[in-house]
Amino acid sequence: MHVVVAGPDELARAGADALEGALLARRDPVLGLATGSSPVPVYDELVRRHREGGLSFAGARAFLLDEYVGLPAEHPERYRNVIDRELVSHVDLDPARVHAPDGLARDLDAAAARYEQQIAAAGGVDVQILGIGTDGHIAFNEPGSPFDSRTRVGELTEQTRRDNARFFGGDVEAVPRRCLTQGLATIMSARRIVLLARGRAKAEAVRHMVEGPVSTAWPATVLQGHPDVTVLLDEEAASLLRRGDVVPLETAGR
Ligand code: F6R
Repeated sequence: MHVVVAGPDELARAGADALEGALLARRDPVLGLATGSSPVPVYDELVRRHREGGLSFAGARAFLLDEYVGLPAEHPERYRNVIDRELVSHVDLDPARVHAPDGLARDLDAAAARYEQQIAAAGGVDVQILGIGTDGHIAFNEPGSPFDSRTRVGELTEQTRRDNARFFGGDVEAVPRRCLTQGLATIMSARRIVLLARGRAKAEAVRHMVEGPVSTAWPATVLQGHPDVTVLLDEEAASLLRRGDVVPLETAGR
């Protein structure tokens, strides 16, 4: 695990560099995209590079990590709509090549299995962007999620629903209780992983992820076993680390 602590602009650039690297390395790269607030500065930076530098997403495919179950197709917080608003509609990424689990499927288990097959058929994810929940979840793999889990129906913890109420006008009851989420094993299959975390609220989860024993009680600890993970943190998110693991941005890889 490469752990980097830096200012907001540097973090956004480092995250964008990882996705740009994948876009330049292959004609048909597969991007793994997170929603939520953490990756937004990275997407803003990619949009800027597209507009000003001609960075092209034309050959790319993208897979989202997760989706709420039951939000109406046009709901602004449906993750497939969120990623359109934040990235896809601003760049030359073909919306038909952007995939999310189908949270409106009648048969959710079948939709989960189909999603897993789609990722495999695309050849797997080249670079996966992740955020982390205050309870240590990645995607919506809440505490207790098995490390060998694949895309499946999940249930959000009360903590996650409270954390995400800010996207639903502050109303916890408006936050769906169920989701479809890539599993921890699905995420671990990505060739490269870049996780972003900002703010004091993430510090405990970050400490467990980087320094804690590997345990399903803190799902992000599974990442300790991945060969190519970069963790991009601001000072507050890094505030509980012993700091032995932190490396300068320049040495953190491509
Ligand atoms: C979103 C996702 C979640 C978020 C996490 C952090 O697709 O999979 O794991 O990354 O809940 O959310 P933010 O970034 O809003 O703090």
